[in-house]
Amino acid sequence: MFPAAGLGTRFLPATKAQPKEMLPLVDKPIIQYGVEEALDSGIDNIIIITGRGKNSIEDHFDVSFELERMLEEKGKTDLLAVVREVSDMIHVSYVRQKEALGLGHAVLAAETMVGDEPFAVLLADDVIDAPVPVVRQMLDVYEATGASVVAVEKIPGDAISSYGVVRRAEGAQTFEPQQFLGPAFRISDLVEKPRLEDAPSDLAVVGRYLLTPAIFKHLRRVGRGAGGEIQLTDAMRTLAREEPVYAFQFQGRRHDTGDKLGFLQATVELALQREDLGAAFRQYLHGLRL
Ligand code: UTP
Repeated sequence: MFPAAGLGTRFLPATKAQPKEMLPLVDKPIIQYGVEEALDSGIDNIIIITGRGKNSIEDHFDVSFELERMLEEKGKTDLLAVVREVSDMIHVSYVRQKEALGLGHAVLAAETMVGDEPFAVLLADDVIDAPVPVVRQMLDVYEATGASVVAVEKIPGDAISSYGVVRRAEGAQTFEPQQFLGPAFRISDLVEKPRLEDAPSDLAVVGRYLLTPAIFKHLRRVGRGAGGEIQLTDAMRTLAREEPVYAFQFQGRRHDTGDKLGFLQATVELALQREDLGAAFRQYLHGLRL
């Protein structure tokens, strides 16, 4: 499930008339990185939650007959393959969140489509470059524990105050990396945006969740929280009191592309990794007098 109905205010004015999920990192829209991660993790049913002004996301994953015909006529077979790969990629369903009432509200909008099954939530803004797709890493934890799993990352110092932070359950055993790609442990609580001195750990929640369908009941109950929005974190707190929820320290490098600096860093790092661009781009960067 890809909630993509937020307003993207941190990226204005670029996001005034286009979704932030469609901003390109090198030559692919941000959301495509997340969709590829899900597919590479073995998930083939994708739900994208959209809102007003998000039609370009649907168009991106749809077949573009005119473009394909033009590329065919011009004999541009390599570009044709790139374009077809996107529309052949997945079976996507779309749910519309009529009002941007929060991430929890967006997840709830897809309840009937998910049904009574565990599901993954990916926030496309968090682009994670990983040796094994992060959702795949998390599925290993889910398969061993049968519990909801939230991806966490160590955040040093004051920056922790911008995140949801996990509290380890008392006496919780840690599953060490020989079993998974990173440590995992049961949590008892999540604290949204704590001051550094109040933070229950230095592990912050990032945009990957595997959730049991019990979350929906909690989402219906929580009501509006911070910012007048229905918060996924609030529902996860009450879920964690009722059934096990695990934090998992994934292996990989995360870029917060919803943030301007994070977006620039992701662009540079991903471009440097590209076979077709990396060498020339590296040379260009070396030539900059910084
Ligand atoms: P953010 O907190 O990043 O908010 O949402 P935002 O509106 O997208 O961006 P900023 O902070 O204003 O720049 C986290 C995720 O939840 C989705 C967003 O699309 C994003 O993937 N979301 C948020 C919804 O789908 N619906 C909402 O009502 C709110």
